[in-house]
Amino acid sequence: MQIEIVSHPLVKHILTQLRDERTEPARFRALARQLTFLLAIEATRDLPVRTHPVKTPLETTEGYSLAKAIVAVPILRAGLGMLEALTELFPDLRVGYIGLERDEQTAIARAYYCKLPPLDNSRVLLLDPMLATGGSAAQAVEVLVNAGAEEIVHICVVAAPEGVRLLNEKFPQVRIVAASLDRGLNERKFILPGLGDFGDRLYGTGAR
Ligand code: PRP
Ligand code: URA
Repeated sequence: MQIEIVSHPLVKHILTQLRDERTEPARFRALARQLTFLLAIEATRDLPVRTHPVKTPLETTEGYSLAKAIVAVPILRAGLGMLEALTELFPDLRVGYIGLERDEQTAIARAYYCKLPPLDNSRVLLLDPMLATGGSAAQAVEVLVNAGAEEIVHICVVAAPEGVRLLNEKFPQVRIVAASLDRGLNERKFILPGLGDFGDRLYGTGAR
């Protein structure tokens, strides 16, 4: 299975609080943002840089600039909880949106929205915290590839082996960066141990 798990102690610390059923939406949103910073650093570790001289107040030295454009594409709606960390790290990035919603009975995702910037010559960071069956991520990657994406990294918080296998099989060129590879899926296709419904916990739309 091809997946990169970010094993930093802070990742484990934040993820544990996200998993905790007592964590309320305001705290959940802050934690999701913090965790995404750490995952995004890993997902962009290999970005190319351009070198050029920079003049400090004392002398001239070698400087660096990012040599590849970044496009972030959150999958609505839970992926929105990861976007702010990306716009803070990469203020010049462009943002696309893909709207997908799983049917509660079948767990098959239905597409309802898509708006993308140009994707060529860019690192495309697909943001979706939960990789469960992989159906949503696979649909989103297909849209991105058809729209011209050449380099895609899927950043997620929790992945299930089922979703990783599906994405690896259909799109072996897509890197997956995650905070955890969990045990598997339950009969409702929720990740175990997981953290529940990420979108509901982010926005307070679940049952009380
Ligand atoms: C969740 C999650 C992923 C998807 C993962 O979204 O944010 O997009 O399920 O499941 P999969 O790998 O089995 O496709 P959901 O459909 O619940 O929509 P929401 O983000 O609007 O809550
Ligand atoms: N979507 C979620 O939000 N959580 C899961 O466990 C699976 C899909």
